[in-house]
Amino acid sequence: MQESTGARTANETSPDEVAHNVQAMFNHIAPKYDLLNHLISMGLDRHWWRKTARAFHPVLQNPRAQILDLCCGTGDQTAALAKKRPANSEPITGLDFSSEMLARARAKFPANNILWVEGDAMHLPFPDASFDLVTAAFGFRNLTDYAGGLREIARVLRPGGQIGILEANQPEGASAVIYNLYFSRIAPLIGGLISGDRSAYKYLPDSVRRFPRPPRMLSLMQQAGFEDSCWDGYLLHSAGLYRGVRW
Ligand SMILES: C[S@@+](CC[C@H](N)C(=O)[O-])C[C@H]1O[C@@H](n2cnc3c(N)ncnc32)[C@H](O)[C@@H]1O
Repeated sequence: MQESTGARTANETSPDEVAHNVQAMFNHIAPKYDLLNHLISMGLDRHWWRKTARAFHPVLQNPRAQILDLCCGTGDQTAALAKKRPANSEPITGLDFSSEMLARARAKFPANNILWVEGDAMHLPFPDASFDLVTAAFGFRNLTDYAGGLREIARVLRPGGQIGILEANQPEGASAVIYNLYFSRIAPLIGGLISGDRSAYKYLPDSVRRFPRPPRMLSLMQQAGFEDSCWDGYLLHSAGLYRGVRW
């Protein structure tokens, strides 16, 4: 399977149709999303959200810093970032285009230091240069145009602002055998049984396989206007954090 320029669902369709299908899929699996996320990642999701928040400790510690968490889903990455903020900080914004995922985020984290916004990461409803940090956890992979998504993030970041993309990755070499067995066979089975939507949990490994590998993603980041870009791989390189600075 080839690295792609953007997410694709079962059939190759137009970007608008893909986005519509992705949105419908997350609305459908929202009630079981948290349970399945914890199960399939064997609890590592929580660890990785906290690790991402720690990576941006200095900017989070600035109470005036404006922070945006894209594709926030049910809100755990947003909440992990909010937890690191001093008292009376500017609220963090969590944005997602799935109303059902966002409804769960609002219910789980009603604190007034988070603003939940329904919107599309490809067309952010914010002016240019309005954020100091933009993050996305396991959501960027679902965008229909990765280069366009990065350009949109660069647009809303101030010069010197930071990007942090926590994303799944397809391991290479010997670890790929175990990884492929787990994500292509076992995860869709567990996901299908619990959510009743096997195709959504088949989309998971397919979308990871199609997602650019770190060298290509780093090159896309550079082209979109980020410098000092780097990738920190986690657990057999099955996930990792992309970081960069808007020049
Ligand atoms: C796998 S979930 C990740 C949720 C959360 N960040 C986490 O770590 O659990 C991916 C999320 O990305 C959202 N998403 C995908 N494409 C999007 C887009 N174009 N604009 C906004 N949200 C999007 C989906 O609705 C979904 O909630």
